[in-house]
Amino acid sequence: MRTRTQVGIVGAGPAGLLLSHLLALRGIDSVLVEIRSREYCEARQRAGVLEDGSVTLLREAGLAGRLDREGLEHGGIYLQFDGERRHIDFRELTGGRTVTVYAQTEVVKDLIARRLADNGAVEFGVTGTEVSRLDTGQPRLSYTDASGTRHDVDCDVIAGCDGFHGICRPAIPAGALTTWEREYPYAWLGILADVPPSTDELIYAHHQSGFALHSLRSLSVSRLYLQVAPDADIAQWPDDRIWAELSRRFELPGWTLQQGPVLDKSITPMRSFVSAPMRYGRLFLAGDAAHIVPPTGAKGLNLALADVAVLAPALVALLRGDDTLAADYSATCLSRVWRSTHFSWWMTTMLHRSPGADEMEAQLQLSQLRYVASSTAAATSLAENYTGFAIASRPSGSA
Ligand code: FAD
Ligand code: DHB
Repeated sequence: MRTRTQVGIVGAGPAGLLLSHLLALRGIDSVLVEIRSREYCEARQRAGVLEDGSVTLLREAGLAGRLDREGLEHGGIYLQFDGERRHIDFRELTGGRTVTVYAQTEVVKDLIARRLADNGAVEFGVTGTEVSRLDTGQPRLSYTDASGTRHDVDCDVIAGCDGFHGICRPAIPAGALTTWEREYPYAWLGILADVPPSTDELIYAHHQSGFALHSLRSLSVSRLYLQVAPDADIAQWPDDRIWAELSRRFELPGWTLQQGPVLDKSITPMRSFVSAPMRYGRLFLAGDAAHIVPPTGAKGLNLALADVAVLAPALVALLRGDDTLAADYSATCLSRVWRSTHFSWWMTTMLHRSPGADEMEAQLQLSQLRYVASSTAAATSLAENYTGFAIASRPSGSA
């Protein structure tokens, strides 16, 4: 079946869903296709921390009703190392900036509900997604819908919001992209647990056995992560072993980690990846399709939202015949992407134990952690990066 839309969007993650909503607010129609089911997208456990700017963006887009009721505003984090737990006070260090704990699952549920309520064209469970004719004025998005009908959608523009393993970035001729990549020699085992959090704010713990993170989803559900080997087999991590290891890494006199039923368990590899530019002809990449950060800095979801906040007005102008903002899109986003890539790398390497690392590395990490916890300048740098910078800064360079 041959149809037409203004913007074809691949991927119903936070980037694709928010883009379709921001475009609809500006009167632009889109067709969004997603390989997974709605239920799968809404249940996929991932990020949990929204920067100040992401909350403002969602609020301004009329999407923050539940976020404002249920999100938990945090004014800092704890860094734990060398048998101590030290508080980094974001409010004090940044003149009032905070982050909000609100799960990516909830952001995605809110976005899907709103797109469907607004009669947005969202197709779940598609197969055979292809993008073609990218360097013409009329690119094409093709897919087979859940009932088996093949669609060819002629578009003015295509947005590749299909994550790191999607089909859009590989559709760009190899010579047109430069990529940078680093794989880390560890992974995160994440659990969702039906137990009230044992902390009021997130704990990032450095331990000689490896990193651990205590986060939360609500006042009754906890989210915890454990550094494991990159080839770790989840079958080797029964719940008792996970809780014992978490308790060991968070151990502090007078404090106990509360345990409860494990609701979800998964292992995530750690990678930094940037590809540039984020545009090829009439194809624009956004979110994890263009860049990946290791999760330690809580940046991936926030970068995905920031990209489409820049992309939506650029596409509106482009569809009116003005390419100025679209020409700046890649450089505008990449300056923020590289800042987050550096911050995530810095947090990751400061807190994780590399396999085979010697005592020298541990001492260097501990020295850095002591410095961050005791110097206002160093703590301010962490706080400023963690809470995030204003969205849509002007480009300060290319790549
Ligand atoms: P995705 O969410 O990956 O969405 C892409 C969508 O495209 C998917 O729904 C996929 O099914 C679909 N798709 C793929 N291929 C096709 C195709 N061929 N056709 C149609 N659809 C397709 N970030 C933070 O900011 N803070 C955090 O605290 C944080 N913690 C994290 C913890 C974990 C364990 C993980 C795994 C990630 C974490 N992140 C965090 C990162 C964050 O989850 C991602 O950066 C974010 O999901 C990126 O959004 P996106 O829309 O770009 O991509
Ligand atoms: C969460 C994930 C992160 O990567 C992080 O740095 C902080 C919190 C979370 O899932 O809650």
